[in-house]
Amino acid sequence: MTQKLWGGRFEGEPSPLLRRLNDSFAFDRELFDDDVEGSIAWARALVECGVLNDAELDLILGGLMRIESPSDGDFEDVHSYVEAKLYERIGPLAGKLHTGRSRNDQVATDLKLWLKRACEEAVNATTALAAALAHRASEDAAAPMPGYTHSKQAEPITFGHWCLAYVEMLRRDLDRFASAVARGDECPLGSGALAGTPLAIDRDALARSLGFARATANSIDGVSDRDFAADYLSAAALLLSHLSRLAEDLIFFTSDEAGYAELPDAMATGSSRMPQKKNPDVLELTRGYAARGIGELTGFLALLKGLPLAYDKDLQLDKEPLFRTRRVIATLLPALTELMAGLTLDRDRMRAAAGGDALIATAVADALAAAGMPFREAHDQVSRNLAELPSLAKKHGVTLEGMLARKNTYGGTAPERVKAAALAAKESLKS
Ligand code: ARG
Repeated sequence: MTQKLWGGRFEGEPSPLLRRLNDSFAFDRELFDDDVEGSIAWARALVECGVLNDAELDLILGGLMRIESPSDGDFEDVHSYVEAKLYERIGPLAGKLHTGRSRNDQVATDLKLWLKRACEEAVNATTALAAALAHRASEDAAAPMPGYTHSKQAEPITFGHWCLAYVEMLRRDLDRFASAVARGDECPLGSGALAGTPLAIDRDALARSLGFARATANSIDGVSDRDFAADYLSAAALLLSHLSRLAEDLIFFTSDEAGYAELPDAMATGSSRMPQKKNPDVLELTRGYAARGIGELTGFLALLKGLPLAYDKDLQLDKEPLFRTRRVIATLLPALTELMAGLTLDRDRMRAAAGGDALIATAVADALAAAGMPFREAHDQVSRNLAELPSLAKKHGVTLEGMLARKNTYGGTAPERVKAAALAAKESLKS
């Protein structure tokens, strides 16, 4: 540690064991860009209240901008790193930057800046996957396949309709990331350690200079609030759950038993033992990472739930779950987007399965009901005469195409509907 942020009242050096436990530089250096950005804004605010003159500001800004991105090093945390490096460049003037500021409002601000970028990344990656699904939906708006409930063949649907179900989930995910940003769009800087800053700065102007909508309204909450991070992890956990369901469906569709689709070679793996295998590792890892993502959220909530106000060092552990989750999203979503774009369908096999006897039962009951029989009675008759289904279907003019075309109410699987819905989805994902 070249430049210490504290220690004046202590005799001797901290134990290496304390350092091992207490230091966070190994991971929080990921906040480097945000720490510099926050420090630049703070330095400017210090001019406004007379702590720094213009010449000092220039020196500090010049120094801050010349600090190299950290790799390894013997620093307590990213804040000590930035201050030490600034000291190396401009000497004791570096010590003025921390006037009226605490690492508590500093780290809360850094984290929010970081989270805004993480949300933006999640939105971009999610939009790309949703767009790939909407594209597949418009290409295969009319391709029939079996639809399932309880993993049993239920009624025919189209592949496009299945794709658009996931587009809807992802649309809600996009919404959740956007509302996480909107709710968390308040800047904690100027909250000091917990009680506020003694400097006469315009906190709202400071907030806006950092791209926030406004300043946080309470300094105690400002340094201890991590709701924004919980919102991010919660949006991510739900997004990952959706991806996991998508993965689960595709594992089945590409199974030897269903054989409706085949993974692109570049998105499949082989077996070291069984030469015939083409394995869906990407999809299985999606399920696995979804499990972890849920764990990150619950672990984070557990970290927060017992904390007395205001800042407590437990909060130092808020970062790694966020960093890990961001990396998972950044890796998983593009992989699934490529996989979805390259998936090949066996449309004949899907159509044959969709036209199977079991899947026409409901439509035959509907046809009997349309001819005047109460639906309950029609249901009973069909379920007692399942062996007769093909001839009943013939008699009542029930066909696969007809079954699909009739589901033409808003939200239904009729190819015409799906085509229009896919088009609308593609349009809305463009903006
Ligand atoms: N490394 C710390 C963290 O991430 C910075 C805040 C330290 N504040 C303090 N009062 N010790 O939470």
